[in-house]
Amino acid sequence: MPFAIRPLTPVFAGEVSGVDCTAPLAPHEVASIDAGMDRYAVLVFRDQPLDDAQQIAFTRQFGELENYASPGHIRIQKEQRLGPGIADFSNLDRDGNIMSAEDRVWFFKLGDRLWHSDSSFRPNPAKYSLLSGRVIPSWGADTEFADMRAAYDALDPRTRAAVEDLVCEHSLMYSREAIGFTDLTAEERAAFTPVRQPLVRVHPVTGRRSLFLASHAGAIVGWTIPEARMFLRDLVEHATQPEFVYRHKWQVGDLVVWDNRQTMHRARNFDRNEVRDVRRTTLAGDRAIPASAAVGQAA
Ligand SMILES: [Fe+2]
Repeated sequence: MPFAIRPLTPVFAGEVSGVDCTAPLAPHEVASIDAGMDRYAVLVFRDQPLDDAQQIAFTRQFGELENYASPGHIRIQKEQRLGPGIADFSNLDRDGNIMSAEDRVWFFKLGDRLWHSDSSFRPNPAKYSLLSGRVIPSWGADTEFADMRAAYDALDPRTRAAVEDLVCEHSLMYSREAIGFTDLTAEERAAFTPVRQPLVRVHPVTGRRSLFLASHAGAIVGWTIPEARMFLRDLVEHATQPEFVYRHKWQVGDLVVWDNRQTMHRARNFDRNEVRDVRRTTLAGDRAIPASAAVGQAA
């Protein structure tokens, strides 16, 4: 079957056929997928029964793995179920049992149900995230994606001018506070020191602008916190209207790849008594390009 991408919504997201993600890709396949990512921002690959080593090898064909070992990060404090290079987004503890509803790791995972862009709280936020569905619950557990380019394009002129040069502060603390999880250790608070990100970022290849939003964004430089929170809340509401959203219904063997530079996503509810085993590899990104640094580029 030849390489092809079938659009999944009128504005973004596509389903790829004609690629075997478990085997090394030819250079032209890597180039086609990269070009597809630039255009669609989310790509779905069905029937890809990856093991961890294959998922890591597939990912590394597109760049360097994100590699942070910041002490104080809750997921690193606990002993890990999986090896290096791949992150555990399951509801399982290190022994393979469903984790307790009181587990602090579970509280952190629940925060992923807020709209966000992966690693926006790091100085160099993530490029692509690749999530592999290994065990899928019988109900729920969808992942939703929102196209931040289409959201930017649809801003009214006054709001578009208002966001142009704004700088936000992102921290895991803000997104966890938003679900009432404030019981963080001093070490965690130190590890979650806010980082600054432009609210409008420019894609390095296409030059398209997008809103760089996330529930990790909790402040706007020069604004009061209440004013900033309400402004950001309104923007997220605008950016996640149904016409900008693709909802992925998982099947075992799906690999979903998204570009964090031009999308947000959120996990959805499922029965926590069922196993959900999804595993993520992440590509390191560069600093976000602000609109002010891209004058003359295509808007
Ligand atoms: Fe995420």
